[in-house]
Order: sequence, then C-alpha cells, then structure tokens
Amino acid sequence: MSLTKLLGIKYPLFQGAMAQISRYELVSAVSNAGGLGIIASGAMDGATLRYQIQACKELTDKPFAVNLMLMMDNIEELVDIVIEEGVPIVTTGAGTPKDHVPKLLAAGIKVFPVIATVDQAQKMEALGVHGVVAEGTEAGGHIGESSTMSLVLQVSEAVSIPVIAAGGIVNGRGIVASFALGAQGVQVGTRFLASEEVPIPESYKLAVLAAKDDSTVVTGRTSRAPVRVIKNPMSKKYLEMEYLKVPRSELEELTMGSLRKAVVNGDMVNGSIMAGQISGAIHSIRPVKSIIDDMFAEAEEVMKEMPKIFY
Ligand SMILES: Cc1cc2nc3c(=O)[nH]c(=O)nc-3n(C[C@H](O)[C@H](O)[C@H](O)COP(=O)(O)O)c2cc1C
Repeated sequence: MSLTKLLGIKYPLFQGAMAQISRYELVSAVSNAGGLGIIASGAMDGATLRYQIQACKELTDKPFAVNLMLMMDNIEELVDIVIEEGVPIVTTGAGTPKDHVPKLLAAGIKVFPVIATVDQAQKMEALGVHGVVAEGTEAGGHIGESSTMSLVLQVSEAVSIPVIAAGGIVNGRGIVASFALGAQGVQVGTRFLASEEVPIPESYKLAVLAAKDDSTVVTGRTSRAPVRVIKNPMSKKYLEMEYLKVPRSELEELTMGSLRKAVVNGDMVNGSIMAGQISGAIHSIRPVKSIIDDMFAEAEEVMKEMPKIFY
C-alpha cells in the first residue's frame, strides 16, 4: 500500500517536527495542504501538548501526527495523552522508542521512528513499526553522521517497510532524488521555516533566506549531541569553547534556552538558529500550501525531463 493511502494524506510529505516551532499553526496548515503536519512535543508539558492537539483538531479534519522526543522526563505522560486524544500517527526522535512502541501500536497508532543508521532502521522494523524516517546529516537540528544520499539508499535496501527521506529536501528535485533512492515519502523541516504560517519571528525566517550553502555548522560533536545551526556569534563561541575543551557544564550553560532565544525572542546573536544545509536554496517566504503544491508539481516536471537527459 502506498504511504498516502496508509496515512490518508494527499502528498507523501511529512512536515518535520521542529521543537518549539511546529505547533498547531504550522501543523494544521500542512495537513490542510495535503501533507502530514507534525506537532513537536519536545519540551512540552502534558497540558500544552493536549492544548496543541485540540487546537489542531479545531483547524483541520485531516490527519496530523505528534513527534515524541524519547529523552523527555515526562515521556510516559505524553504517550498517554497522544493515545487519549486519538492522534493517529506518531514519529519519534532522540533515542529508541522500543519501550513505547507496543503501547502505541496496541492503540492503533501508526509509528514512524526517525533513524540515522541502517542498524537502527532494522531494529525498528523488528518492533513492527509502519515505516522509518531516514534523516541525513544535512538536516537542521539534531543529526547523525550519514548523508541523506548514502543513508536513504542503504536503509531502503535493508528494510521492507516504507522509508521517508529527510535532510536537504526543499523542492521537486529533492523529492525525485529521494524516490529514486528508494524512499516512499519525504520529510521536510527547514523549508517550512520560511513559510507564512510558521510561528517564529521574522528575523529567524530572514536568517534562513540569507543563508548560503555553506552557512550552517555543527555544534556539540564533542558531547555527542551534534546540532546543525546557521553560523552566528553564538555558534562561533560554542565551537571555540569546544576546541578549547572547556568542561561540558560550561557548554551546557551557553546553550541553555538558546533555541528559545531564537524562536521566541528572535535573537539571532545569542540564539541557536537551527536549520539545514539546504537553506541556501530557499529564496522566499510563502504560504505552506503553495510550497507543497509547487514541490510536487515540480517533481512531476523533473520526472518528465529525466529521459531527455539520458538519451
Ligand atoms: C529548527 C528545527 C528543529 C527540529 N526539531 C526536531 C524535533 O524536535 N524532533 C525531531 O524529531 N526532529 C527535529 N528536527 C528535524 C526535522 O524534523 C526534520 O527531520 C529535518 O528538518 C529535515 O531536514 P531539513 O531541515 O533539511 O528539511 C528539527 C529541525 C529543525 C530545522
């Protein structure tokens, strides 16, 4: 069965969960446009998640999902809320969801863990999940080592459940490339940072528009928690401190609340501006629906052009 039929969506597109960013405004817009909107529950308390889910239900009658960050202290509570509220689809990040998958599956929820290696994908398949999101290192936010190009091909060959490609996809070319590698869907995060509906300050959106292909950098490699952000004074300071091997506690102090500074205060100097390498290919702030419609219209055009390149 195709991913779109399995999930009841028009386009095989997941809007990547983005902590403190993908709330009901963006999520409902994506689902109404025919993709799968995903609420990022990382850092939310139970009441906030319930409010976000209910607000989404008010704004769309289409399916949407919740992303569960497994290292959260209140993960048990968040899982229960997702089940109580009848959310049909879940993605998971930041760890293995093995302790929660049986409960989610028993509740009839479709589960799509985000993975960064073939080994993780195979372990997830053995748990009986419905698909995996294979996220390459070019993505914004917390990342693994393999590139989307290498990862999606190898994961697609290693598992028989649907693979959703994530990392570096903003247009029809990225969609076609992902499908050529074996994916059945795409997950897109950074592109939606430059959408009209995303609830972040204008300064964040403009930082994504201003970024070039080499404007991102990875912080946190030394503490094994790599995060891709747009270069700014904050990331420069962090990297200098990493280079000087300062104690981890000092690094944590520097990053404490730093995403919030960017997302809520629009502080582009002291905040962490999480975004992917593909930012350089984003040139306009547009409504979600036109972004998604154009991506798939362009994908069809690209596929028509392909044979002309070969012969
Ligand atoms: C600002 C930002 C925050 C993110 N937060 C999360 C998160 O909370 N949970 C998660 O599983 N992935 C998170 N991601 C990853 C996205 O869900 C998605 O997989 C990624 O953005 C896809 O790559 P792209 O940025 O190149 O489109 C985040 C990405 C960004 C850019």
